[in-house]
Amino acid sequence: MAKNDTKKDAPTEVSKLTMILLAAGKGTRMKSPLPKVLHPVAGRPMIEKVILASKKAGATDLRVIVGHGQHLVRSVVEPMGVTCFAQENQLGTADAVKSAQVDSIEGDVIIMNGDHPLIEAEDIQKFLKNFREEKCDLAVVTAEVKKPGEFGRIIRHKGDLKAIVEAKDASADTLKIREINTGIYVAKAKILAEYLPQIKNHNAKKEFYVTDLISLCIEDECKVMAIKASPKVAVGVNNQEELAHATKLLFRRKARRLMEEGVLMIDPSCTYIEESVEVGPGSVIYPNVVLRGATKVGSFSVIEPQVFVSDSQIGDSVQIRAGSYLEQSVVFNRASVGPYGRLRPGTEIGEEAHVGNFVEMKKVKFGKKSKAGHLTYLGDAEIGEEVNIGCGTITCNYAADKKKYKTKIGNRVFVGSDTQFVAPIEIGDDAVIGSGSTITKDVPAKALAVARGKQIIKENYAPKSAETSASEPETAEKK
Ligand code: UD1
Ligand code: CA
Repeated sequence: MAKNDTKKDAPTEVSKLTMILLAAGKGTRMKSPLPKVLHPVAGRPMIEKVILASKKAGATDLRVIVGHGQHLVRSVVEPMGVTCFAQENQLGTADAVKSAQVDSIEGDVIIMNGDHPLIEAEDIQKFLKNFREEKCDLAVVTAEVKKPGEFGRIIRHKGDLKAIVEAKDASADTLKIREINTGIYVAKAKILAEYLPQIKNHNAKKEFYVTDLISLCIEDECKVMAIKASPKVAVGVNNQEELAHATKLLFRRKARRLMEEGVLMIDPSCTYIEESVEVGPGSVIYPNVVLRGATKVGSFSVIEPQVFVSDSQIGDSVQIRAGSYLEQSVVFNRASVGPYGRLRPGTEIGEEAHVGNFVEMKKVKFGKKSKAGHLTYLGDAEIGEEVNIGCGTITCNYAADKKKYKTKIGNRVFVGSDTQFVAPIEIGDDAVIGSGSTITKDVPAKALAVARGKQIIKENYAPKSAETSASEPETAEKK
């Protein structure tokens, strides 16, 4: 198609954006049984990051090309509302794009490799804007990098874009070029439909390269441009080392953004906070903290070293002390957990409550200002306000019938140390439980319950020999 044949879109009409994400390759260099695009980068599968960025950028039609391990890849991407297209044989990136049924697309298309997890919506929008402003037919996003390695090289003549040459097909001189192909292309859909079938596999890998679109379109005098982007866009993942590098960059980026919003970081290079996590200003994050998924931390809270939190809400002025592990839990304002606290799914710690060292809770509602300071297991329990749970308390929630039963403890109850509650059981408000009790019956409000063996004293019980051995050291001293 010659330049003149390209019909101009009416200026008022906003073209639809379709994205084609390439994810059919095996990822041989990963040396892992997992399809490459499912490898997690900073906690999430890399293809998920690319899809989220595409959606945020306004893509209405998302087409993911699947092939190797497609059953697994589909199980991750289809719930995100994308359409998968199978590429039966991995004959190269041009063949992959063709699998997206480009004839059925109208408007503009962005093609992106599924292995560039650092891409963000703002980048995609910028490329599209640039492409539309310049009224291009085709654009390739390039970047200047220090180590061009296996990237395709951008060939220019007197500054003008000419072609992309794959590293495997390049001469020694071409390999010295540091401007590379990031694997992102913007094109008019009809350009793809016309030129993809013309691509040949005359190259070192005997594959159909999407990169050949550039030279084909230039020969035909279409308007083709190179959009220069930051090297971050070029960060791709082809092996485990690059995967670890991409993860590190993403965690650093998150730490930097949180600091810009007023979060205090003792050592931002040693924090592992996923992109989806929110932390309020004035909170302090110590090194080796992992915050995952839908976790939210309020303001002025402190998260001490070696804390792991996933999908949990932490309020304002909360202390999560060293070595604690929280999953799907809620900690309300001014409460404290740990050191070495463990909150399992379904736990809620009330305002100003305290959960101390070596305390484990599961599905517990722990009331305002209540305390469980040491070595305790509470499961399937509802505990009122201002309750004191003594050291070594256990809710025996799992019965011989293999069912779980509930413990209910009212407000202001005092539980002495080393108490077992055999569920199902209910303790009324203001009750007192004597230490060492095994409570098997409900306790009414304000009552004292003691359930332990009575202490017996037998005077002069010790055998004669005990007396002699006790006096031995004295004898020795006298010598
Ligand atoms: C590709 C580009 C190269 C660019 C680099 C950027 C080509 C020929 N080369 O090389 O110029 O610098 O990306 O990262 O395009 N895929 C399929 N089906 C296939 C082959 C690949 O879906 O038949 C997918 C892969 O899953 C991957 C993406 O396409 O997500 C890129 O494939 P990969 O083999 O990693 O290409 P590179 O060698 O990195
Ligand atoms: Ca790649």
